[in-house]
Amino acid sequence: MKQQAILDILPEHVDGIRDFMIFGHFLEHFHRQVYGGVFDPGSHLADDNGFRRDVIEALRRIKTPVVRWPGGCFVSAYPWKKGIGERVPYYDKAWRVEEPNSFGTDEFVALCREIGAEPFICANAGTGSLEDMSDWVEYCNLDIGEWAGRRRANGHDSPFNVRYWSIGNENYGHWEMGAKTADEWARLALESAKMMKRVDHRIELAIASIPDLDWNAKALREAGHLLDWISIHGYWSSASDEGVFEKGYDNIIARAFQPEERIVAVKHILGSLGYLGKLRIAFDEWNLRGWCHPEFMDFGPADHALMDCNDINSNYNMADAVFTACFLNSCLRHCDVVGMANFSPVVNTVGAIFTHEDGIVLRPTYHVFDLFANYSFEEVLHSALLSPSFDVESREGISTSVRHLDAVVTRDPASGDVGITLVNLHGEESATCRIRGLKGGASNRVTARSVVGASTDAYNDIDQPDAVKIVERQLDVADPGDFEFDCPPHSVTVLNLAGAG
Ligand code: AHR
Repeated sequence: MKQQAILDILPEHVDGIRDFMIFGHFLEHFHRQVYGGVFDPGSHLADDNGFRRDVIEALRRIKTPVVRWPGGCFVSAYPWKKGIGERVPYYDKAWRVEEPNSFGTDEFVALCREIGAEPFICANAGTGSLEDMSDWVEYCNLDIGEWAGRRRANGHDSPFNVRYWSIGNENYGHWEMGAKTADEWARLALESAKMMKRVDHRIELAIASIPDLDWNAKALREAGHLLDWISIHGYWSSASDEGVFEKGYDNIIARAFQPEERIVAVKHILGSLGYLGKLRIAFDEWNLRGWCHPEFMDFGPADHALMDCNDINSNYNMADAVFTACFLNSCLRHCDVVGMANFSPVVNTVGAIFTHEDGIVLRPTYHVFDLFANYSFEEVLHSALLSPSFDVESREGISTSVRHLDAVVTRDPASGDVGITLVNLHGEESATCRIRGLKGGASNRVTARSVVGASTDAYNDIDQPDAVKIVERQLDVADPGDFEFDCPPHSVTVLNLAGAG
């Protein structure tokens, strides 16, 4: 029997306004993200700045709004002052490799300019001092003083005006270099925020956080008045110690709404501390798949060869696409509090784009960003979804109920154009969604663009770049106010209706 769902839309009620920065990305000095990823001056595909033209073009296509850099764990011992002017390679204590150091602040800002993205700099709150952090703001944003002079000497007369900054990365974690206790963190957050905002009061500041009441209570009590964002992270599937990535569509899909639970937990924490409406969430590292680097967080010998497992494109399939779409729908649903999210990372490792010597492969997740960034809109409309659910077995062997469809309705306030982001989470069964409540617009035409792959295991690679792709269909419906759409199994669709909102 065909599964049936109903989506009732109330166009007169706007739930919130989406911040486009939820479609952001993250770039860390790890494996082939920077060197051999976005930055490859020796490549025949590089432009005059050493950036891969094909990568830049792909990032422009998905309108990448913001890029967080340089880490990640890497930043917690990053000596940014050695990454400007004359460069000397150094030993990176996070990933235990030689850091070539030819990509630093100037190159990062140039990269963002080429993409058309806002730079978001994560400052070193591990081994870095208050002075290091605030000097970095000086270097980027001032036109007086020693550090502005250094920037000019490096060929950049005008300030970079970097608006988004973060104090630290995962400093609560035992794995992080220079990790802090909640009390230490609260004090550091206050003092570094004070100095960074004294340099430039226009900057927006995030601090590294976790959904933990004690951590946030201390940090916000001290520094909350100087902060704008609370930064959280999430990865929901990890590779084995041998570098084998998780297979099995159903047990991955069982976790599709865990990111939303994390958002809600942080929302409650902000509410309980009196900061809801004052601070927003930057989910500034997220991906279904954690990066493969077993042993690096400990003291044993680091196995660098295992990092190469991240480059196996068959690891990334329709489960990744469906999970990614559910994550973005969750951000849209909570657009009152989630203002930024950064897919981790932007290229290579477990990212949406894979580079090779002669080109790139767009992984399934890339196409999801393409759909959401290009075909959803700013206003999130109120809607109610009545969807059947199905049971799947989680990793832990527990039966979990998952809804068959997920949907969010968005509208462009200027044109009234509507974009409905629809996900069919079921691996094998299609579902019909009856969509009610939109008004008849200029036309009865519905454009449906779906990310599809022949099976849940479908993936893209150099020799099969389009096994997962966007398929576009035009449908003529009798009444845009009440029509049905068939969602293929394991698919992500955006439906567009001109002027229907
Ligand atoms: O696995 C990637 C690392 O994960 C990032 O460097 C860090 O921020 C997170 O813990």
